[in-house]
Amino acid sequence: RHQWQGVIEEYRSLLDIAPDARAVTLGEGGTPLIHAAGLSERTGAEVWVKYEGMNPTGSFKDRGMTMAISKAVQYGAEAVICASTGNTSASAAAYATKAGLTCAVLVPAGKIAVGKMSQAIAHGAELLEVDGNFDDCLTLSRKLAEAYPVHLVNSVNPDRIEGQKTASFEVVDALGKAPDIHVLPVGNAGNITAYWKGYREYREQGLAESTPQMWGFQAAGAAPLVLGHPVDSPETIATAIRIGNPASWNQAIAARDESGGLIDSVTDDQILEAHRLLSSTEGIFVEPGSAASIAGLLKQARAGKIPAGATVVCTVTGHGLKDPEWAIKSADGSALQPTRVSVDAVSAARALGLE
Ligand code: F0G
Repeated sequence: RHQWQGVIEEYRSLLDIAPDARAVTLGEGGTPLIHAAGLSERTGAEVWVKYEGMNPTGSFKDRGMTMAISKAVQYGAEAVICASTGNTSASAAAYATKAGLTCAVLVPAGKIAVGKMSQAIAHGAELLEVDGNFDDCLTLSRKLAEAYPVHLVNSVNPDRIEGQKTASFEVVDALGKAPDIHVLPVGNAGNITAYWKGYREYREQGLAESTPQMWGFQAAGAAPLVLGHPVDSPETIATAIRIGNPASWNQAIAARDESGGLIDSVTDDQILEAHRLLSSTEGIFVEPGSAASIAGLLKQARAGKIPAGATVVCTVTGHGLKDPEWAIKSADGSALQPTRVSVDAVSAARALGLE
């Protein structure tokens, strides 16, 4: 019997880590690549969804964090720090706990989902709510990491990118080839950088014949890469990607251009529509930020930009339980309520339309 060993053990020879270095792991990676029949029908493509909500802390961040924390231990760090819209802090807190390190996290006040907040608290992180946005939090974290003995584990740390590139390896391993197009939500732009690195390296190693076009989607109110300039006050209901000045700006543009891809934006309404569609037709529950990839796919399909029969992989980056309030709101904003019944089979049957 084989149990998945986490991304470091599964791909160690392809990662920048010493052969004998201890892996701090919670068994991350090995996430499902799910064929999406409904999305395939709508788009005329073969659409697959890489469900990164199935990682140990519920987002793709765990792939990078197993590397960043394993390396932090090697460097002799005793404390780590990060800025976060929520998922990075949840992941850093969990992996730091596993390694016996102290973890400090800086989050924008009032702008992180409750599920993510509860994770950082549960794992005992030092949690600072900053009167500012994510970009302010990242600036602060970088300053603190320069001036004090705290090791930065945001995606500006190359160890994070190195771990996150394993998602591309898994996609190729599962499909037996690289897809034609890979679609991602984009916030701080670490993940699109990591995927592109992974695809390029697999091709260089002779493990894939081609690389996909990289398609990135930002929320319209937080779309600096689309506008071509930083956004001072980014706004979107998709708090995960509420970022106005991505740290990996140049790398994201390079991924787009080298792959022949695109970076575009989707509105909050389009994000919520995609979120509902994924839940109600594919059985996949994600947080709103994750649905930006699906919203982007549908936008491109409506514009006739998806080649018929193309193999398309959409990454959905975080679990729906992170930020569940959106699921219980209908399109017009009203709350969706269960039907209340007494302990009585006839009334239950009536409520179900069986009587
Ligand atoms: N999706 C989710 C669910 C995220 O949490 C993030 C980023 C992204 C997409 C965008 O990825 O930043 O690599 O372009 N979350 C970071 C955080 C910023 O702090 O958790 P990116």
